[in-house]
Amino acid sequence: MNLNITLLPGDGIGPEVLAQAVKCLQAVEETFGHNFTYTEASIGAVAMDQTGNPLPEETLEICKNSDAILFGTIGTLKYDDNPDAKVRPEQGLLQLRMDLNLFSSIRPVKIFPTLLEKSPLKKEIILGTDFVIYRELTGGIYFGEKKLSADGTVASDLCQYSEREISRIAHLAFKAAKNRKQKLTVVDKANVLETSRLWRKIVSKIGESYPEVTLEYLLADNAAMQIMLNPKQFDVILTDNLFGDILSDQGSAICGSKGLLPSASIGNDYAMFEPFHGSYTQVQGQNIANPIASILSAAMLLNHFGLNEEAQAIIVAVDKALRKNISTKDINPASTYGTSQVGDFISQNIIDSEEDLNF
Ligand code: IPM
Ligand code: MN
Repeated sequence: MNLNITLLPGDGIGPEVLAQAVKCLQAVEETFGHNFTYTEASIGAVAMDQTGNPLPEETLEICKNSDAILFGTIGTLKYDDNPDAKVRPEQGLLQLRMDLNLFSSIRPVKIFPTLLEKSPLKKEIILGTDFVIYRELTGGIYFGEKKLSADGTVASDLCQYSEREISRIAHLAFKAAKNRKQKLTVVDKANVLETSRLWRKIVSKIGESYPEVTLEYLLADNAAMQIMLNPKQFDVILTDNLFGDILSDQGSAICGSKGLLPSASIGNDYAMFEPFHGSYTQVQGQNIANPIASILSAAMLLNHFGLNEEAQAIIVAVDKALRKNISTKDINPASTYGTSQVGDFISQNIIDSEEDLNF
């Protein structure tokens, strides 16, 4: 298959981890006889330093002309520490999600059996955890009108949702649940928020078309608690932009490290693949960041194009690295393996896996 992939390394550890994902995609090309081309473009603080704009027009054009986008991470301490900054690196990512209409973020939370001991939860609680968060990605409080009073003492962020925005992601979440364990949990604050009540109304109506799926509602505070107490109870979680952001970090932490989990940001016309985690600028350039979330994002990209065997080869190679303790310090504090050594091991194992099959 020919695929034209845009690479957006971004800020912080983004370039280092993305480079490992590209190694793995190249290993897949070599092993399975595909032809991927890569075009790099700038976004975030890096782009702001070059052009003043966190999402340059050229970057958007390159993304629109590609089959898929592989994203690194975004944000730097320079802007995190400056509440008065008028333009922020993160706006580049948010604008890109909006411009490409990537309304659904699919975030699988699954524990690797080899990492049971790394979870902050007790083994018997985390064992068997396998759920997926459908996070609405282009609406809600992230994108509502923002205001700051002239004297700078009052601020507001509008949280708004329309029926169209809710129903399109709800259909995707129901379809996913139908093909999994047939359970859909909507996370909201319907006891407080009008938007949550609208979500409930629309989702329960759509639920009538998916009779095989058991639908339940959970308030967000309770959901955060349930993820700690009994994460196995979940199959598909459907939620808005802000709750989805929060719960997905929680989900990755219970799997042993924030550096592990990938996501797919999907719209009707475009698809982007990105780690759950942030830019972790503190360790930028030190070759210690965990590349696995980025590598697994590449696997999700392959799945998106039906290259399931190829995606599986990546997952098997990641699993092998973890089983052999070839991992970065977040997983294994005594490790001498850095970001690129872990990437080398995993990509080499993708190539070797095919040789194993041939002999
Ligand atoms: C994520 C990130 C982003 C978000 C940031 C970087 C804007 O935390 O993808 O989860 O909040 O959506
Ligand atoms: Mn987040």
